[in-house]
Amino acid sequence: MREIASVAAMQRLARQWRRRGVRVGFVPTMGYLHEGHLSLVHAARRRVGTGGVVVVSIYVNPTQFAPHEDLARYPRDLARDRRLCRQAGVDVLFVPTDAEMYPRPPGAEFSTYVVEEVLSRGMEGASRPTHFRGVTTVVAKLFNLVLPDVAVFGAKDYQQAAVVRRMVRDLNFPIEIVVAPTVREPDGLAMSSRNQYLDAVTRPQASVLWQALEAVRQRVRAAPGGIPAGRLARLVSACVGRAPAARLDYVAFFDPETLQPLRTVRRGAHMALAVFLGGTRLIDNARLE
Ligand code: PAJ
Repeated sequence: MREIASVAAMQRLARQWRRRGVRVGFVPTMGYLHEGHLSLVHAARRRVGTGGVVVVSIYVNPTQFAPHEDLARYPRDLARDRRLCRQAGVDVLFVPTDAEMYPRPPGAEFSTYVVEEVLSRGMEGASRPTHFRGVTTVVAKLFNLVLPDVAVFGAKDYQQAAVVRRMVRDLNFPIEIVVAPTVREPDGLAMSSRNQYLDAVTRPQASVLWQALEAVRQRVRAAPGGIPAGRLARLVSACVGRAPAARLDYVAFFDPETLQPLRTVRRGAHMALAVFLGGTRLIDNARLE
């Protein structure tokens, strides 16, 4: 496995691959890798085959964090990530620096952003207003550096995948976006680098997101004519309320393609929620089928 920190070196290598017709699969991450991330690496490998290359980037992107969020304490362990990537058969680990990703020479600071204006409005975008601008900007930059044929994202961040897909279509990136299923802990908790923040009190309560998704799924399955979203939202509130450390940030029921909120929820609709557990904010989502 090769490790590259320089933006110029990454771009040089990517252009070489392109000239030689090597297929490139790409998994962008913020590191502190877990089974969820590694499942994306395997999906990328399946897409490009043994003759292709798989690139993983690790970059804790400052522009997608608001000033009050957890940028400074976001978990990092490059030595462990490196080991996991090597074991997973990653060809290139790309670990760019802030100085290169967001140059700040006096008078010529970084000042260009990519903004998706429809899918990024609700849910995570409503709770974290500058978040998706940071995501689309860094993902566009990484695409320009790695020049992938295929990029793999996780269904865990459903809205993020939809926003990236829309950006790729709208801005004509010649890249196929693949979305891989959410990998979960045995109690249903979606794997996340932020689960690291949970302690002996909050960790057991974190399964409340999964329990809420399951409760809604069951209720929707039993009501072929559909159920008002408001009634399901109350069910979710009650479910989350049973965990003493949990506070519901939002729950949304929406069309899986347009992300438009639904008034009546039927099978095939999508649900997403965000929950604070102590100081930790967790998200999850699922198709209601
Ligand atoms: P990060 O949270 O590190 O996630 C990197 C990728 O792993 C994302 O596509 C995410 O959806 C996926 N992922 C996370 N947990 C998962 C799980 N339990 N199962 C399956 N996939 C999972 O998402 C980001 O980083 C950043 O926003 C990024 C896209 C790298 C841009 O900075």
